[in-house]
Amino acid sequence: MPILQLDAVRFAYDGLDMCFDLDVAEGAWIAVIGPSGAGKSTLLDLVAGFVGPDSGRILYRGADMSGMAPSERPVSLVFQENNLFPHLTALQNVLLGLTTRARPGAPLRARAEEALAAVGLAGYGPRRPAAMSGGERQRVALARALVRERPLLLLDEPFAALGPGLRQDMLGLIGQLRERARLTILMVTHQPEDALGHAERIVFIDKGRVALDGPVAELMGPPPHPRLADYLS
Ligand SMILES: Nc1ncnc2c1ncn2[C@@H]1O[C@H](COP(=O)(O)OP(=O)(O)OP(=O)(O)O)[C@@H](O)[C@H]1O
Ligand SMILES: [Mg+2]
Repeated sequence: MPILQLDAVRFAYDGLDMCFDLDVAEGAWIAVIGPSGAGKSTLLDLVAGFVGPDSGRILYRGADMSGMAPSERPVSLVFQENNLFPHLTALQNVLLGLTTRARPGAPLRARAEEALAAVGLAGYGPRRPAAMSGGERQRVALARALVRERPLLLLDEPFAALGPGLRQDMLGLIGQLRERARLTILMVTHQPEDALGHAERIVFIDKGRVALDGPVAELMGPPPHPRLADYLS
């Protein structure tokens, strides 16, 4: 059974009627690509429960998630930027993935420290976001997502602001964490080459629909799939 299914999930914003059908196998790493305004972020927001479908069903391991609050869903989400609270330290930001208590106990703090270490930021706990690089901040955001131990990791262009070298490092890190935690990943990216060597599958969203869905090598080519050629050029 797929870990995640979108079954005729309809949602409309002014100007765009979206309808998504998608099956995601457990452990998959899917690159979600497509033009600006196509509905990629909305797709993730639907899965995370930030918006509710007008009709259709979103199933987690076969069970309908409608009615589940975002905090209850088996999902964590990392955005492009502004993931962190600037007045909190790295450790406090990660702890927010675990608790809203002001004074979390030692076991929770230890788990947050571990998550920072897992993203290569051991010892960064006391730093505030302003004293970190963009890549370090995104790794703190990733640590906060991972510490929640949710099986579905949704990434909405989390590396867009980083240079190519750092992006590759982050993709390598995600790959390691995926294996360690058996994550299933939906990753929105504007750099389709990020999919190469990392994701196995590409889902191309166009005008609120899944317009193409297949193995990375098949769709990216060379030569690229004819429907992707315009988008990639
Ligand atoms: N909060 C909102 N209120 C109204 N319309 C919205 C809202 N968010 C998105 N939209 C519209 O819904 C459509 C899909 O937006 P979405 O953010 O999902 O696109 P996207 O594929 O993520 O684009 P980008 O690559 O630019 O991030 C767009 O036409 C957008 O203008
Ligand atoms: Mg978006």
